[in-house]
Amino acid sequence: MVKIAIAGATGNVAQEVTEALVATGKHKLLLLTRTDTAELSSNNAFPNITWITTDYGDLDGLSETLQGVDTVLSFIVTHSDPGNTAQKNLINASVRAGVKRFAPSEWATSSFEHLPWYAGKAEIREYLAELNKDKKASQLSATHLSQLLMMIWHLGQFTDYLCYPYKSSKHIHPFQTQIDFHARRAIILEDSEDARITWTTAKDLANVVAKAVEHEGEWPVVGGIRGDEVTIGEIIALGEKIRGDPFIVEKLKAEDIKAGIVKSSWLPVVDHPSLSPAAVEAMAKGFLSGMLLGISAGVLKVSNEWNRLLPDYEFTRAEEFLTEVWESKP
Ligand SMILES: NC(=O)c1ccc[n+]([C@@H]2O[C@H](COP(=O)([O-])OP(=O)(O)OC[C@H]3O[C@@H](n4cnc5c(N)ncnc54)[C@H](OP(=O)(O)O)[C@@H]3O)[C@@H](O)[C@H]2O)c1
Repeated sequence: MVKIAIAGATGNVAQEVTEALVATGKHKLLLLTRTDTAELSSNNAFPNITWITTDYGDLDGLSETLQGVDTVLSFIVTHSDPGNTAQKNLINASVRAGVKRFAPSEWATSSFEHLPWYAGKAEIREYLAELNKDKKASQLSATHLSQLLMMIWHLGQFTDYLCYPYKSSKHIHPFQTQIDFHARRAIILEDSEDARITWTTAKDLANVVAKAVEHEGEWPVVGGIRGDEVTIGEIIALGEKIRGDPFIVEKLKAEDIKAGIVKSSWLPVVDHPSLSPAAVEAMAKGFLSGMLLGISAGVLKVSNEWNRLLPDYEFTRAEEFLTEVWESKP
């Protein structure tokens, strides 16, 4: 049994992971949320889970809550946490409470080049690195004040987003991306067909986290999960095969994008649940630009430490997953 605290527990990704952990029937989960837990507790009557209304500003209270916890998994969206106040307090409270493993709210790209909306993730990475400065994970003693071992999870992009507008997981809200299987179209950067993207399903992420918490060896500081790795050209070709028609592919020039000029005839509507409709509209150009430049710089290509640590786990290939989801869809 591992005692795990999940921060940002009402969120999409947190709920996927929580359900995979609950399904093992082995762990005790503390689900941290800023919201009122009365309704959440009655709607989510799983065994061994406790919802806790959490004030991330109350360091003493948070440290008390985390007493006895082995692993903290954070899913706090950083752009909704100004100054990273909540996540830094969560880290500080975890150190105080003697938590062993801490996974910050990463769950995405290998680096943040061209992705300004992930500045908060970058800052938290530095904060944790500073905390663990000069110490290799294996050298950290259980009594050391900064014993917290950081664990940065990467997965690339959820394959589930290629199923937009259809939902392919229980909790991930599907949003449109620049590769749009539904409308049989894509926007790419000129000459970026060979850029590689890691595609991991939400289900694989959740299953692998559930296995990782039981892993007795050391957690790698960077823990990549690679469901599948497919180039932009290959994923468009796969879309054309599955959807039975050629895609309309618009190719933008990097120099235009860098100059703030976006010439595509449409913009993906990235309506992540943490964004207001006005923010979604305001961010559309910048989000597309950042994604196109970032993909070419390799931000969505991640490492595969967990594939190697869990050699018996069978990851879901993009073709298998997307063929099944799109079968008989208009
Ligand atoms: N690789 C990918 O394709 C991909 C896709 C989606 C998400 N992600 C990553 O997964 C993580 C979770 O994203 P998500 O989609 O699950 O987000 P989400 O559904 O918006 O949930 C995030 C949770 O963060 C908590 N939160 C927000 N602002 C907060 C604040 N100021 N203080 C404390 N808690 C706060 C909220 O929990 P409470 O209201 O319960 O407190 C919220 O439910 C993020 O790191 C995101 O970047 C990756």
